[in-house]
Amino acid sequence: MKTPIFLTLAIGLLCAGPALAQTDKAFEPGAVWPDDKGVHINAHGGGILEHAGVYYWFGEHKTEGGAGNLAQVGVHVYSSRNLTDWRDEGIALAVADDPLSDIVKGSVIERPKVIYNPGTRKFVMWFHLELKGQGYSAARSGVAVADKVTGPYVYQTSFRPNAGAWPIHLAEDQKDPATSVIARDHKTGQMARDMTLFVDDDGAAYHLYASEENHTLHISRLSPDFQRPAGEYARMMPFADDEAPAIFKREGSYYLVTSGLSGWAPNAARSYVASHIYGPWTALGNPVRGTPEQAKITFGGQSTHAMTLKRKGCERQILMLDIWRPKNAIDGRYAWLPVEWEAGKPVVRWRERWTLADLDALPCHSAATPEATP
Ligand code: DGJ
Repeated sequence: MKTPIFLTLAIGLLCAGPALAQTDKAFEPGAVWPDDKGVHINAHGGGILEHAGVYYWFGEHKTEGGAGNLAQVGVHVYSSRNLTDWRDEGIALAVADDPLSDIVKGSVIERPKVIYNPGTRKFVMWFHLELKGQGYSAARSGVAVADKVTGPYVYQTSFRPNAGAWPIHLAEDQKDPATSVIARDHKTGQMARDMTLFVDDDGAAYHLYASEENHTLHISRLSPDFQRPAGEYARMMPFADDEAPAIFKREGSYYLVTSGLSGWAPNAARSYVASHIYGPWTALGNPVRGTPEQAKITFGGQSTHAMTLKRKGCERQILMLDIWRPKNAIDGRYAWLPVEWEAGKPVVRWRERWTLADLDALPCHSAATPEATP
């Protein structure tokens, strides 16, 4: 019997799954980036989680003016299937009205990142938290959890990580509280400011944070539910003054892009490689390729996340930068740039406009694991 045309169409629609991602839409680094409602995307210091074929972009919701750098609203989330068109999914984690809450309106909530825990089936968000009215002195990590990727995320707790634990391979002379910040903070927990999360191929998750008065990044393994530090951590590049960590793995090596310390003002990016997650990390230099001025200020941007895309049998990375506008925080821009390779080093070049087809044209590392969209 011939299947009626309407049934064929309906079955076709049901089986087609997600719409095919288009590769001809352009990324325009530094430009206003409208969401599905035509409003500039408001997800600064953000990160991307790919879940069930959809990309989710979580970031700081900024508001107008200088006060917009404080958390007035919370963490915003957007969804996309092609990485260029983003749908506003609303506020994933809202600030609290309760003045006793750590995340009360007017606190600082920065660089939120979300990972999925397959064991608990929870989405876990970590962020850099500063308590209201205390500037940047609290240097805490906040954790919030949701059953649904877009939230609502429920705030759990905040702390300075790794209280009572020494990092692996710590030199004996660093255990003297009179001379060492890590020893000073040993009992109460380590300072944690700029941060990111990373899930390794074996399912273990890590929290990278700027510690020791911002002089040294730490990498800290998370508990099986991803909601606490497991108590095992390492210093990354001691006293190298790095922040804004963005990490990815390629062909068994770990790569890290960071910035120096100059507040909201851009500075020269750095890059590192390690063959083990706990280091040692080898400096690869400034990943920016372009004019000396572009290299000096990283195109006006600061790293926030490095996303790995598996497309057409290939694995490639996109480096996400924030171009901060601290005087009118809501106008902060984004610069996403394809990662290229030069003599084994990850590098980025400025592009006014580029597409996923341009990314596909770059040499690649073959993807070992199944691909996701787009
Ligand atoms: C630089 C950091 O990378 C940002 O996330 C933010 O904390 C600013 N400093 C604040 O000055």
